[in-house]
Amino acid sequence: MNSPVMHGLELNTPDFVKHPRLIAWVADMAALCKPAAIHWCDGSQEEYQALCQRLVDAGTFTKLNPAKRPNSFLACSDPSDVARVEDRTYICSTRKEDAGPTNNWMEPGEMRATLNPLFDGCMAGRTMYVVPFSMGPLGSHIAHIGIEISDSAYVAVNQRIMTRMGRAVYDVLGADGDFVPCMHTVGAPLAVGQADVKWPCNKTKYIVHFPETREIWSYGSGYGGNALLGKKCFALRIASTMGRDQGWLAEHMLILGVTNPAGKKYHVAAAFPSACGKTNFSMLVPPEGFHGWKVSTIGDDIAWVKPHSDGKLYAINPEAGYFGVAPGTNYHTNPNCMASLGHDVIFTNVALTDDGDVWWEGMEKDTGSMPDHLIDWQGKDWTPQIARDTGAKAAHPNSRFTVAAGNNPALDSAWDDPSGVPIDAFIFGGRRSTTVPLVTEARNWVEGVYMAATMGSETTAAAVGQQGVVRRDPFAMLPFTGYNVSDYFQHWLNLGNTLSAKGAKLPAIYCVNWFRKGEDGKFVWPGYGENMRVLKWMIDRLEGTAKGQETGFGVSPTYGEITWDGLDFTPAQFATVTSLDKADWKHEIALHTELFTQLAYHLPAELVATKAQLEQRLAA
Ligand code: GTP
Ligand code: SPV
Ligand code: MN
Repeated sequence: MNSPVMHGLELNTPDFVKHPRLIAWVADMAALCKPAAIHWCDGSQEEYQALCQRLVDAGTFTKLNPAKRPNSFLACSDPSDVARVEDRTYICSTRKEDAGPTNNWMEPGEMRATLNPLFDGCMAGRTMYVVPFSMGPLGSHIAHIGIEISDSAYVAVNQRIMTRMGRAVYDVLGADGDFVPCMHTVGAPLAVGQADVKWPCNKTKYIVHFPETREIWSYGSGYGGNALLGKKCFALRIASTMGRDQGWLAEHMLILGVTNPAGKKYHVAAAFPSACGKTNFSMLVPPEGFHGWKVSTIGDDIAWVKPHSDGKLYAINPEAGYFGVAPGTNYHTNPNCMASLGHDVIFTNVALTDDGDVWWEGMEKDTGSMPDHLIDWQGKDWTPQIARDTGAKAAHPNSRFTVAAGNNPALDSAWDDPSGVPIDAFIFGGRRSTTVPLVTEARNWVEGVYMAATMGSETTAAAVGQQGVVRRDPFAMLPFTGYNVSDYFQHWLNLGNTLSAKGAKLPAIYCVNWFRKGEDGKFVWPGYGENMRVLKWMIDRLEGTAKGQETGFGVSPTYGEITWDGLDFTPAQFATVTSLDKADWKHEIALHTELFTQLAYHLPAELVATKAQLEQRLAA
């Protein structure tokens, strides 16, 4: 390959890249961003080690004690760059209606005119990494390829864990394969001689999607979903628009397999909003008393769901690793996750122990006590006394680990099967301290779509902004739907109709809430592994052995239908997490109405009719 030279910069295209359009794009982007060097990632272990060392040398990474946490690192970000920035996230379709009222929108030409000067020279003094990745198994018919150009080595090493990253992607692409161009910069050019900081970023941030040309442009943040562009930007926002056009779904869902003692296996996909329990549920360890039951992980965050010729929906996990929430994770809440984190992990914004290991809030439940001293995520001394006096958290509430799926002891053997796994049930769940019961089943597909569409959840630290306020989060996709959310509801309804017309049995749809609180302000439902009791009731429903009872809001279990072995949970406690309060539901329905008013354009009439039925039932 020839190597164009730009202002003295060699493109240095490696032999394994044989795609003229891609090379021309990289050359254009280099000319725009003006980096000091270009590094074409090959995805090798040697490259990973070298980039980690580079991050250690730059002060971004701290190498953890190899005796405690082999081949693992801690990165602490700038305190202003700790989570997704939803108010800076844009869907730039040609027509505003196609982005819809829940997305920020700017006319594509205007956005390009905004971004161009920002990207001009944005990588000065830095290395531009060209990161080839596949979402889904390499070369499989369901996979899609992206090329992320980034000036962050942190992004490159995280992408190697989170995706299938490396030179094999170029073999699949050949000379003319399709890829989604993903431009990323931290937005912190270095002048000649200027010293770098350990976490470069910019106060100005733009997370931009052009759904029609399938492009992503991200400016100013190095953190998580803002910067690892395969995840939310590609696998949800861009992929949801691909799914709309091609008849499939890209969802914010975990996928798990659950096998009963007789060896029969079911597959479930569950959508909970950010930091509401997907990773936990996907790695669930059934409580003692559930002898012979097994849960295995296919994915913990994203599902691509496609109809097959047999009329069933099959789901794949497009990712190859987990970028999971650290605080609250311990051997009681998620033992499989803790076992996954023993080696080859990148931790971000957790605390550093005096012996070179990591710590976060919740770990004291395993050891029985708080550590005497830590360096907190902002590099400050932390002691239990300081925490009591100032309320300082050792780990940021949105601190995370990046780890390969292969580290998970509960990994399902079919986790990277290109055909995916057949889905028997969908679950939708929010974080609600009141109102929404532990579990209900929709009577039919349309009612299930209604429940998912109107779901509310209390906001979490996964996004910048106010925490703990109830907002509508349709399908747990509010920040991730790449097009008009009313059209997205219609797409779900259409899919149900298409599959029913083929005579297929549609997956059951359940609505759950692990987060109801009692008068003492504490969670009433024990959650975590105990969620198996709810999962088993769902399986019993699928098998036809649990009758359930009709309520104003779907079909619910009776107390007697839940398997209680090994758990002391009284009928009164059960009533606390399952009751429907008339006044609460009046208010809840008013919030559904408000949502439907906001989404009136293209809102499916079936959903409006379903609301009327629900109101009648709740009033009865
Ligand atoms: P994203 O990666 O942000 O999409 O989040 P996620 O849905 O995978 O969230 P995760 O499983 O990491 O859970 C985040 C928080 O929810 C942690 O603090 C958990 O301790 C808490 N959590 C998870 N499951 C339960 C549960 O069953 N009950 C309660 N009370 N808390 C839970
Ligand atoms: C989420 O916020 O839903 C996440 C984390 O899964 S991030 O990748 O940062 O978006
Ligand atoms: Mn997520």
